[in-house]
Amino acid sequence: MEEKLLGKVALITGAARGIGREYALRLAKLGADVVITDLDIKASKFKEEDVLAPTVKEEIEVLGRKSMAFEGDATDDEFGKMVIEEVIKEFGHIDILINNVGGTGGAGPALATEMETDKFVHALHINLLSAFIFCKYAGKQMKAQKSGKIINISSVGGSVPLFITQAHYSAGKAGVDALTRMFALELAPYGVNVNAVAPGYIHTVKWDAHFEEQFKELTEKVPMGRLGTTEDCAKVIEFLATDLSDYMTGQVLYIDGGLKTLNPSSSKVNLY
Ligand SMILES: NC(=O)c1ccc[n+]([C@@H]2O[C@H](COP(=O)([O-])OP(=O)(O)OC[C@H]3O[C@@H](n4cnc5c(N)ncnc54)[C@H](O)[C@@H]3O)[C@@H](O)[C@H]2O)c1
Repeated sequence: MEEKLLGKVALITGAARGIGREYALRLAKLGADVVITDLDIKASKFKEEDVLAPTVKEEIEVLGRKSMAFEGDATDDEFGKMVIEEVIKEFGHIDILINNVGGTGGAGPALATEMETDKFVHALHINLLSAFIFCKYAGKQMKAQKSGKIINISSVGGSVPLFITQAHYSAGKAGVDALTRMFALELAPYGVNVNAVAPGYIHTVKWDAHFEEQFKELTEKVPMGRLGTTEDCAKVIEFLATDLSDYMTGQVLYIDGGLKTLNPSSSKVNLY
């Protein structure tokens, strides 16, 4: 792989497993030093197969890059501020930010009329507030250095009511799309690109643990006839993190095998 990102510093939130880990390894292979954050840096709940080392930080180091790992809650303003300060102290700049933290935080599936308000707010925090905090502090630095790439992780669920029990998650991701455009608008004159990707159904270790029974039904909904892989997502991240996308900002790119555009109906499957 061509080392297009040599000398660049990337920060990825929620990268101890799943799709975030794939982003971290991809950017490291492209030459970047990669800092990660997670609530659980050791990813003790779900074990990835074929790992290069016990933690993603060590995997990045095995690939010959520098890394730092910060364990903490990405919805905590103080934590976000501290992480950006430490990255700047260590490297002097931050070139790529990927706001990957997301999900429902174990809120569970519920119809909107029956959803407990604190669970709704919790999911908004995980998906939207975390992205705001990191966009704010990293964006300030990128504005000052007059360069940078921010990539927020949205979902097809942010623009299509894919699952009837996911009002909390969908509203959070719709917010991520809006936030992407607002930061893009402010930072465009400073040479900072802010875009989002919106994955569809992506097969991860967590999916193996939770949704294996639903794979067939979900797969049938995807026009391309297969679930997405973490690598499918990382390839689009490579595009948005490198100079290939220099004249793009404020966009949401769908990585979904055609789901949103070609078959956007609600699924009968209940996820989460
Ligand atoms: N898997 C999919 O099909 C899919 C589809 C669309 C969008 N997405 C989005 O992609 C991103 C990654 O998804 P994934 O499937 O790899 O999820 P995942 O749950 O496997 O990984 C998320 C990681 O974020 C961490 N995390 C969660 N809350 C956190 C917090 N408050 N602070 C710090 N870390 C926290 C978790 O510990 C975990 O390591 C999420 O934003 C998700 O919403 C995933």
